[in-house]
Amino acid sequence: MDFKWGVSTAAYQIEGGWNEDGKGQSIWDVFANKRGLTFENHNGNIACDFYHRYTHDLAILHQLNIPNFRFSLSWSRIIPNGTGAVNPKGIDFYNRVIDFCLELGIEPWITLYHWDLPYELEKKGGWTNREVIRWFSEYVEVCVKYFGDRVKRWIILNEPMAFTGAGYFLGLHAPGRKGLYCFLAAAHHATMCQAEGGRIVRSMLTESQVGTAFSSTFVQPFFDNNRDVMATNRADALLNRLFVEPLAGLGYPVKDFKLLQRLERFIKDGDESKLAFNMDFIGLQNYTRELVTFSMLTPLLWSKFVPADKRNVEVTDMNWEVYPESIYEMLMKFSKYKSFKEIIVTESGASFPDVVINGKVNDVRRINFLDQHIKQVFRARQDGVNVNGFFTWSLTDNFEWKEGYRPKFGLVHIDFETQQRIIKDSGYWYGNFIQSYL
Ligand code: BGC
Repeated sequence: MDFKWGVSTAAYQIEGGWNEDGKGQSIWDVFANKRGLTFENHNGNIACDFYHRYTHDLAILHQLNIPNFRFSLSWSRIIPNGTGAVNPKGIDFYNRVIDFCLELGIEPWITLYHWDLPYELEKKGGWTNREVIRWFSEYVEVCVKYFGDRVKRWIILNEPMAFTGAGYFLGLHAPGRKGLYCFLAAAHHATMCQAEGGRIVRSMLTESQVGTAFSSTFVQPFFDNNRDVMATNRADALLNRLFVEPLAGLGYPVKDFKLLQRLERFIKDGDESKLAFNMDFIGLQNYTRELVTFSMLTPLLWSKFVPADKRNVEVTDMNWEVYPESIYEMLMKFSKYKSFKEIIVTESGASFPDVVINGKVNDVRRINFLDQHIKQVFRARQDGVNVNGFFTWSLTDNFEWKEGYRPKFGLVHIDFETQQRIIKDSGYWYGNFIQSYL
């Protein structure tokens, strides 16, 4: 069966080597090194030290017979100032990662942007500056020029809703900016970049497959009344449709969320047609569902989530409900967009409190989580959805953004004091499971 099994990672969450070999700073380097912004002031300066240990980690992937590896490129490792001079040592690092993957028979999947904007660009306004379309295009061209001879699968952006929402609206993620104006500017520019990035990869590489990855959350009203139904529609427009529908040629979902009309001030003549692009595949990422209720205390959105731990349901260490049907529902929803030809689940996974006993991690709950979610993916496939891949988040425990190293998402445990790796039972399980499908 030609189904793509893999794992997903992201540069800032695993690489470390934050100031080595000519790398420029990213917004995450700056944010996480300020006090009080992340769990116990954790940062990604060393992270999983993938920068020095990539051969070891890729050998684990090989040992587990996992055939696809999704990783992101650090823009500021490649172009330290975000625009202009290219850093040869950065290119060399990713060449070595790609070549080693290929040597092991592992297919590399590159994400071009997983949240770590070069800090020099943030100083000029970052995603809120329309110039970002030009900066990003230059960066995409550089990556394709250097790696396009060997990399056949490209993902333009990872979860634009997450990095514009948490980074430019709520101020919880880097660069820590807040407010509607910042958010809407960043959102429009990211939407332009996702399509433009697709066009660049397609025009430079005719043999490759290009896609982009979206977060998705199945939302349902908490109470069966009109106010909660409307609140849920607004949350759905924001979380699941804002970046998806312009790409599909449907424009922004203003009808269900009037506030989005204010995007207009950032839309220039000719933008509307440029927002659409016919990707080869869409990356769908799903972790949970949310129940939504009307809220007077949440201006602009007038909706809030009812926390999972108040609902008497099974939760992960992120306080996310374990609800496998969510991935099925979102696959069904995404499959309705006519222009989406193929869907790959580019992330799903769970953080649970693992314990190491006698050098082993018996993470039964993670195994169950993955097993149940994969079953829902195959249910959607049976129901006619063209979903052809599943990537677990993540290969190793890593830097979980604001939450630091507290949550553990890996198939492989890392002792961050010693950098020692232990393959968890879920890692062995996933490897064996994949074998039974190949
Ligand atoms: C992101 C990852 C993150 C994971 C778990 C996804 O939204 O792409 O970077 O670690 O969720 O929170």
